[in-house]
Amino acid sequence: MPWLYLGPLASAVRSVGPTIAGSLANKEYELVSASSFRFLNLVAAPVKALARSSPRLNAALWDVQYKLGLWDYLDDGTAAGRELAEVIEQYAPQASILDLGCGTSANLPLGPGTYRRYHGVDISAKAIKRARMLKRPHATYETADILTYAPQETYDAILLREVIYYLPPAQVSGFLARLSGFLAPGGVIVIQVWAGERSPGLIAAIEGSALPVVLEKTLELDPGHPTVYLLGGQPPVAV
Ligand SMILES: C[S@@+](CC[C@H](N)C(=O)[O-])C[C@H]1O[C@@H](n2cnc3c(N)ncnc32)[C@H](O)[C@@H]1O
Repeated sequence: MPWLYLGPLASAVRSVGPTIAGSLANKEYELVSASSFRFLNLVAAPVKALARSSPRLNAALWDVQYKLGLWDYLDDGTAAGRELAEVIEQYAPQASILDLGCGTSANLPLGPGTYRRYHGVDISAKAIKRARMLKRPHATYETADILTYAPQETYDAILLREVIYYLPPAQVSGFLARLSGFLAPGGVIVIQVWAGERSPGLIAAIEGSALPVVLEKTLELDPGHPTVYLLGGQPPVAV
């Protein structure tokens, strides 16, 4: 998933996996897909850098991708989203939730009565339009660049689902540390990254935030087995 503007190609490579039977074949798939993704990442890097240089260009490119349906596959199933929702329910029961880079949010089936409020933010107006059409109860939405976004209130759970790859790597640690200032007491930042082990830079950036890791978990129901990291807030400074 983290290969910007090559979504369909990446998803095509990804979709090969579950069709191959047997553990040896699966290992072969892992090797092939790992090298394919390294190649895709190399090709996508300059495009990513260009898009990051301008929020307006970034927004326009994401809008085009949503218009072309390049990310429709994300909304195919909700099993993995349900698994994530259970983690949120466990660590932030009855939460007020801020979902940054929410996309259409269709793949996050929060159970009725399990959360207090949901606010979705995305740079793509097209994605937000689709998210609004879901008519999720107790939900509001906003189009904004999450890098500079300043929440108007604190939240029990701040979600970054499959989105931190698209932020400038050098800014991720500081971004996470800043976000922790918008956590309610006991709140958590929930980061979901696909194939975390292939993105050591991201893991280092998460660690660089110096926020305590409350939980590290693999989502078993997603064929890509993304990793979920729950980060707590900054410990109070002793005086
Ligand atoms: C791969 S999609 C993931 C969508 C959703 N979180 C999910 O897991 O299905 C990445 C999302 O991040 C959004 N995004 C990327 N950069 C962003 C930024 N700087 N500010 C806000 N949203 C951003 C994109 O518009 C897109 O909806």
